[in-house]
Amino acid sequence: GLGAAAALSRHPAATGAELRSAVPLPPPFRVPLPLPAVLAPVSRAGGTDRYAITQREVTAEILPGVRTPLWTYGGTFPGPTIESRRGRPVTVTHRNELPVPTVVHLHGGRTPAASDGYPTDLVTPAGWTQHAGHGMSGHGMSGHGMSGHGMSMHDPRAVTSELTRDYTFPLDQRPALLWYHDHRMDFTAPAIWRGLAGLHIVRDAAEEALGLPAGPRELPLMIADRAFAEDGSLAYPSLDPTLRERPGVREPYVAGVLGDVILVNGAPWPVHEVDAARYRLRLLNASNARHYELAFVDEGDGRLWEFHQIGSDQGLLAAPVTHHTLPMAPAERYDVVVDFSRFPVGSRVRLVNRLGSGRTRDVMAFHVVRKASDDSRVPRVLSTDLPAWRREDAVRVRDFSFRAGRMGEDDTHGWLIGGLPFAPSRTDVTVRHGDTELWRLVADVHHPVHLHLTGFRILSRGGHPPLPHDAGLKDTISLRPGESAELLTRFDAYRGRYLFHCHNAEHEDMGMMANLEVV
Ligand code: C2O
Ligand code: CU
Repeated sequence: GLGAAAALSRHPAATGAELRSAVPLPPPFRVPLPLPAVLAPVSRAGGTDRYAITQREVTAEILPGVRTPLWTYGGTFPGPTIESRRGRPVTVTHRNELPVPTVVHLHGGRTPAASDGYPTDLVTPAGWTQHAGHGMSGHGMSGHGMSGHGMSMHDPRAVTSELTRDYTFPLDQRPALLWYHDHRMDFTAPAIWRGLAGLHIVRDAAEEALGLPAGPRELPLMIADRAFAEDGSLAYPSLDPTLRERPGVREPYVAGVLGDVILVNGAPWPVHEVDAARYRLRLLNASNARHYELAFVDEGDGRLWEFHQIGSDQGLLAAPVTHHTLPMAPAERYDVVVDFSRFPVGSRVRLVNRLGSGRTRDVMAFHVVRKASDDSRVPRVLSTDLPAWRREDAVRVRDFSFRAGRMGEDDTHGWLIGGLPFAPSRTDVTVRHGDTELWRLVADVHHPVHLHLTGFRILSRGGHPPLPHDAGLKDTISLRPGESAELLTRFDAYRGRYLFHCHNAEHEDMGMMANLEVV
């Protein structure tokens, strides 16, 4: 087990919105950057790549000398990376040996509804029953997670439950960095926090022909914050009854849970030795709630170094965009090229978060250790297959507000879309297959809004043209406090029941999710 009882009695202090770890933290830039292992298929027969992943508890050493129980895909955090070719289908058989049901969603996948990981399509551990599910307090997960909204998680009409589940992904989509993570109703945030996240990269020949940095000079970087309890376990407020019961202390996690340790690929403030050459960094913000504003800083002179954005959530941009800083909300991906040949050998370049303070200002470091030849390039034209949707193509305009509100019988704090908390039994939006729609979103506080199934173009923000990093095809938009935005999308993939929601994982668990039916 997770030693939950021990963790509960010695919880870390919640300071504002950030949990403070109760174990000693290592100095930055000592732990080498891990690269998640690429998963080998169990079969490639019949034109499909088949994989098997067992979800299980392990204990790992994330902080040097500290043993941390995790929930994992296949025994590691991050889970194993799946590498796919565009249009070549993949089936992943998930088996659940965790103490709770789970749901797997491929974020950014153009996936048939049956494999999209609807929040009540469970993979249940052997021996788990709905009755046992109510008795999960031994794991600190009694009741309905943080939401308290008493939705029909246990409504037998809504719930499907299997001991293993085959998720089939056609991957008939642009090459991109996707990620898979838990999506169970009301419990997504604590499940991701405990380790249920991994990368899935889709590639094709056109992208490979561009000559971008590749092989050891292409690095996926999953950035996520966490906090550690005194016993080494990952601290999470809803697992702590003393926090749950004291009035007012819901606030730290109503806003979203933040930790004081920044992990990259599961390692705290790691360092990576690089050649003095161009590198392609495939960035994912897998944090539950933390926003970043990333920058590369030369330790020598403190200067911010420019880098080139080549891609976004849904793959390559049409042309590179140069930045000195890059905001990154939960679930967003950015594909960037950094040229380390501009630094003398021996330099250390920090990737920093300008929104952080103290230790959360550092993310990781790159140590430029040798001169090297480099025949990579960043072409002026990166892709020509971005959808050519225009505003005039939209057959419908819809408005959605993303705001705080009250929900449930006990009138607890919730996060609502259009004034309503998520309900699996209610269809919020019905769209016709093939239609192009314009969606107008408005937020009270910061909400990273994610649409399943299809990418979108950002047409405007706050009545102004989109920001430079909004270019390309997105599946998550970082709506800033008080901001409105217009999105353009086309529902030309599959029919069925899908979701859109806030990807602040705590907001999602507290109701900020809605059903979308493509008919
Ligand atoms: Cu990244 Cu609906 O999820
Ligand atoms: Cu939100």
